[in-house]
Amino acid sequence: MQQLQESTSYLQKRIGDFAPEFGIILGTGLGALVNELEIANAISYAEIPNFPVSTVESHSGKLIFGTLAGRRVMVMQGRFHYYEGYSMEQVVFPVRVMKLMGVKKLFVSNAAGGLNPDFNTSDLMVITDHINLQPFNPLIGKNINELGPRFPDMSDVYDEHMVREAMVVAEDAGFAVQEGVYVSVPGPMLETPAEYRYLSIIGADAVGMSTVPEVIAARHMGMPVFAVSVITDLCTPGRIKKVVLADILEAAAIAEPRMTHLIKELVRRS
Ligand code: HPA
Repeated sequence: MQQLQESTSYLQKRIGDFAPEFGIILGTGLGALVNELEIANAISYAEIPNFPVSTVESHSGKLIFGTLAGRRVMVMQGRFHYYEGYSMEQVVFPVRVMKLMGVKKLFVSNAAGGLNPDFNTSDLMVITDHINLQPFNPLIGKNINELGPRFPDMSDVYDEHMVREAMVVAEDAGFAVQEGVYVSVPGPMLETPAEYRYLSIIGADAVGMSTVPEVIAARHMGMPVFAVSVITDLCTPGRIKKVVLADILEAAAIAEPRMTHLIKELVRRS
């Protein structure tokens, strides 16, 4: 708590009276939403006391404060993954800071593999539920009662109203979005065909290595969450190919304008 407060007061000093209303976490290859911002302040993670520093090359590691669709937001350009060697506490630290900064809602994006046979590369999937297969949980350890309860409810993690709004926004803009269950695995390797089959059997439509820890922390603190996956590779029998990061980034880049539009419009309507 003390570390969280230290980081929060540092940021508040840096941004002055710019009080962010919404938090946004941008996933692999999905940083261009930042171009839509009227930027007030960009602070690299390395400058912020107690902040972990991102090591993945495709993430640029900055906290950006600005205005999106007329609303004040704070955006994580690049997130922290458990596979980078951070503790789960570190992975969710920025989300905790968002809450202390007064953020009211969290928007999250990620790149994910498509397990549902109806999905295609570069589809957007609005997340309606998740399965947590991460080996550790950000809420393990002494509960900070000021932040949230010991046993937070997870019966309605993804805000239903925002899911419905997303459908309307997509329809108005003339593009399709999928809906489904996201399963979070530790990575960093991609899955074997047998693992993809297993993840599909247990009920997942998309698989990735992020999002669920941050979402758990956000829900622990009572923040409504909207999350969307960009399907970057297909994981169904007959469609599995060797995946390299460049392919994931290419597929993400194709979907990025749609994803950016979706989040921007949801922020506008929030
Ligand atoms: N598996 C896990 N994580 C991913 C994948 C995948 O196929 N694609 C993008 N992130």
